[in-house]
Amino acid sequence: MTRSWLDKRKRDQYSRLARIRGYRSRSAYKLLQTIRTYDLIKPNQKVVDLGAQPGGWMQVARETVGPGGFVLGIDIKEIEPFPADNVRVMRMDVYSDDVAERILAELKGPADAVLSDLAPSIIGAWDVDHARQVGLARRAVEIAEKVLDHKGNAVGKTTIVSRLCANCSAKGMNVHGVTTREIRENGERVGFKITDVATGAEGWLARKEYSEGPRVGSYRVVTSDLERIGVAALDRAIEARARMVVVDEIGPMEMTSLSFRNAVSRVFDAEKPTVATVKLGSHYPEVEKILGQSRQIEIRKDNREDIYRELIEQVDAWTVQSS
Ligand SMILES: C[S@@+](CC[C@H](N)C(=O)[O-])C[C@H]1O[C@@H](n2cnc3c(N)ncnc32)[C@H](O)[C@@H]1O
Repeated sequence: MTRSWLDKRKRDQYSRLARIRGYRSRSAYKLLQTIRTYDLIKPNQKVVDLGAQPGGWMQVARETVGPGGFVLGIDIKEIEPFPADNVRVMRMDVYSDDVAERILAELKGPADAVLSDLAPSIIGAWDVDHARQVGLARRAVEIAEKVLDHKGNAVGKTTIVSRLCANCSAKGMNVHGVTTREIRENGERVGFKITDVATGAEGWLARKEYSEGPRVGSYRVVTSDLERIGVAALDRAIEARARMVVVDEIGPMEMTSLSFRNAVSRVFDAEKPTVATVKLGSHYPEVEKILGQSRQIEIRKDNREDIYRELIEQVDAWTVQSS
């Protein structure tokens, strides 16, 4: 069995699967895998797909964002339109000067995610093909910089934590704790949800459309869910044989609950390998008491990939120590 024979078999298998599931391309599976690993797109988001013809990635993106989201596919070639109202196609060269303006106009605002599978027509001369591919990748980054919504998860903190959890779980590590994520409906942020990393149980952390609970900005904290999901997850993290505990995040919404604050304190006292996220400049005694025994890393847009790699190395080191 040669490598090329195995690769061909794999390609044939994905082509067959794509045909069965009605995807327009077998690379739809490449995107499905990436979404599963990195939590790349979420329900109700607005997604732009650059280099989208024939539309396999658009189909997967549409399945993920659901009826409340929107998918815009762009390609220099004609893309056969989709019957759904919230899936649009645009024939355009990504090097056109007005590409970002046209995307923003079509989406009626910024995008939540930009995908790119842009690839040049191969002429067979490696250096030319390679230079074109690099040029398209750079162009995709330029467009993303102009059309992405930089509010909320601007530095990519949530993405780093999700990727870290996915990476650890893939290695068979027992990860416990909580993560939080924003929830959007029709492109507008309506609140935040909190998830128990070990069980997947989810509840509201805060909502706009809620009349009770402590107010933080334009949201009301849903204390019952925060404590039912969040406090329970942290307490279980202490009792369970967790290899790593994640507390994402320790912020003004979470810290309105005394039970949550005490649970955070208990996690820190348990001295388990823990990754916690805290908004820069905040002062919580529960966090300040462990500053001397912990490492603080500032996540910025320009260093997030390095931070992600550093965290993976740290977690691997913990694994070696504890085995
Ligand atoms: C690998 S295919 C995309 C397949 C797609 N992701 C799918 O799942 O169906 C790459 C696409 O990039 C497009 N492309 C290449 N250069 C482009 C450009 N300058 N502007 C827009 N699209 C371009 C090509 O026309 C081609 O359809």
